[in-house]
Order: sequence, then C-alpha cells, then structure tokens
Amino acid sequence: MVSSEQNQWKKAAAEAAAKLVEDGMVVGLGTGSTAAFFVSALARRIAEERLRIVGIPTSEQTAAHARTLNIPLATFAEQTQLDFTVDGADEIEIGTLYLIKGHGGALLREKIVAAASRRMTVIADETKIVERLGSLVAVPVEVVQFGWQATQNKLQEVGGNPSVRIGPDGKPFITDGGNYIIDCAFGPMQNPKEIAHHLDHVVGAVEHGLFLGFAREAFIGGRDGVKLLKRSE
Ligand code: A5P
Repeated sequence: MVSSEQNQWKKAAAEAAAKLVEDGMVVGLGTGSTAAFFVSALARRIAEERLRIVGIPTSEQTAAHARTLNIPLATFAEQTQLDFTVDGADEIEIGTLYLIKGHGGALLREKIVAAASRRMTVIADETKIVERLGSLVAVPVEVVQFGWQATQNKLQEVGGNPSVRIGPDGKPFITDGGNYIIDCAFGPMQNPKEIAHHLDHVVGAVEHGLFLGFAREAFIGGRDGVKLLKRSE
C-alpha cells in the first residue's frame, strides 16, 4: 500500500525534476502516480513563469491529466525529437539506472517517447531502488492479442514465468495500443541485457519493460529528502 509519506517522497522527486524544464522545450510526460506529480508541477511553472513548452504524453491517462491543467500537447506528427522526458519507474538498478517500467501499462508509448528524447530523467521514491532488476517486480511485456497464448509459450521458454495481466473487469488488461500485457517474473537478474535481447526476439511481443541505457539521472525522494543519482556507465 502507498503511504502518504511515500506520496510526499514521489512529489518531492517530481518537483525537483520539474525545475529542469526550460522555456521552449518539447517535454515527454510520463505515466503513473509519480509522473502525475511532475505534470502538476510543470503546469504550475507554465502558469507562473509563462513557459512556452509543449508536452508529448506517454498515455491517454497522462494526456487527459495534462489537458485539465492546460498544458499544450503535441504529437509525433508535429515533433519527432523531444528535449527532455520525465517518467516514473517500477524498479531502478543502482549504478546503471537500468529500469523496469510498465506496471501502469504504458511501457510501449513510454519507451517510444524516451527513445526520441535527448535526455530522460527518472523520478521515484526510494522504495524503487534495487541492487538487481527483477528483485521486486516482474517485467511487463506488451504483446499483440493475436496468438498471445503462443507468445506466452515463447516467454516461458526464455524463463519468464509469464502470466497475462488481468484488468479490474476480470478480463485481460488492454493497453492504449490495444495490446495485452504479459508479466514475466524472471526474479533478480544477473544479466538484464541478455534477457532484454531474448525479449527483443520474441515474435508477437511488441515491446518490453526493460529500459536499459535510457535514464541519465534519477531524482529519488525519501526519508532524507531528494537525492540525485547519476548513471555510472
Ligand atoms: C507506467 O507504465 C509505468 O512505467 C510507471 O512509470 C511506473 O509504473 C511507475 O508508477 P508509479 O509512479 O505510480 O509508481
């Protein structure tokens, strides 16, 4: 369960990252509860400082939130290069800043936005930091609906202990892209690059939640305030 203290840590991390946004930037807007604090902080800066920025949201949920706060939005039809993306994460590996993302179901758009950004900054509370990816959560894999059972078998063959994600309605969860998510419990990973390589080659998998080499820095909120972690490699 998320405590109100944990929410304060998320908010503090988000507000630290929002300070890095500069006038004229195209900004990637992440998805999840921490990213929502960032979107709110950014909206305040836009209103107070008359910043001219445009946001590219990573989900319909974030787009709706940004619209209610009057953040100007763009699509890839107008902007193919982003200056700066700020997003949450489900796990952050200390040192490498490798990430597991997608427990909010938005990993495909999140990865497209992060890959099109000059810089990606992660915001999270300290409970997300791990020594080895896979210690706390499974790796979400977005798969096309057609033949998902066969794709699940392939994910089993690469050691993923897969299970299709079920939504609140008791049916498979459907992403903004109309796909399913299969969560793969690899456990703590010695070699996330190798696992990512396997997942890259599973037919029927559209994208996976291992974000390796995307994040340059991370603002981590916690008991002792907000810490800035830089990637070590
Ligand atoms: C969304 O698909 C995820 O990648 C989120 O960024 C991640 O789940 C973090 O969410 P919270 O900030 O709500 O923990």
